[in-house]
Amino acid sequence: MKQISGILFDLDGVITDTAEYHYKAWKQLADDLDIPFDREFNEKLKGIGRMESLELILQHGNKQLTAEEKERQATKKNEHYKQMIELITPADILPGVLEFMNEIKDAGVKTALASSSKNAQAVIENLEITHLLDSVVNAAEIKNGKPAPEIFLKAADQLGLSSENCAGVEDAQAGVEAIKAAEMFAVGVGDQKALKKADWVVEDTSQLDFKELQQKFAEARS
Ligand code: BG6
Ligand code: MG
Repeated sequence: MKQISGILFDLDGVITDTAEYHYKAWKQLADDLDIPFDREFNEKLKGIGRMESLELILQHGNKQLTAEEKERQATKKNEHYKQMIELITPADILPGVLEFMNEIKDAGVKTALASSSKNAQAVIENLEITHLLDSVVNAAEIKNGKPAPEIFLKAADQLGLSSENCAGVEDAQAGVEAIKAAEMFAVGVGDQKALKKADWVVEDTSQLDFKELQQKFAEARS
């Protein structure tokens, strides 16, 4: 049976519910700029970097801002987001995630964080899970964000692994596309329809199970 050697995690919406905090912070910004913003539109922003997200929101509202004003708005959104993540504690780890990560460690499989967020380090420190991650990709060093494969390729490289031996876990469509573009096994967390390109979709994190993942991975690679 083909064994998994590395599991690469997205953070926001997979390990903890910071996707909701990003939503709240973007919603506030959109309201301030009089741009319509709902959860359906927010789906398009999941996994997408800060400035790219702002551009999508401005496009959606048909609004033009100077480069300086864009910088100011993005900083304001980030300050709002940072206030929310300051309050994060280990109790905010999504159901089943800690068990899943511990099972992975016990199996001797490596883990990495492949988050587009420049706040990822602060979040994992507050969640107290740094010891469960062998490597963390620095989002600031990524030139082509999700859905490009770069961040997942970099994560595998940092672990010294090749793509075909890795699986990625994502809640965003752009993230699943990035994992597939990196030629890895993709686990989607959330809506089956939205994440249809994933190799295995679970409704929520409580259904993440290492043995089941290993089995599905082996089937896909046979
Ligand atoms: C991703 C989120 O993980 O990080 C996006 O899914 C977010 O919603 C992106 O825009 C960038 O995050 P940050 O913290 O660098 O603004
Ligand atoms: Mg996510």
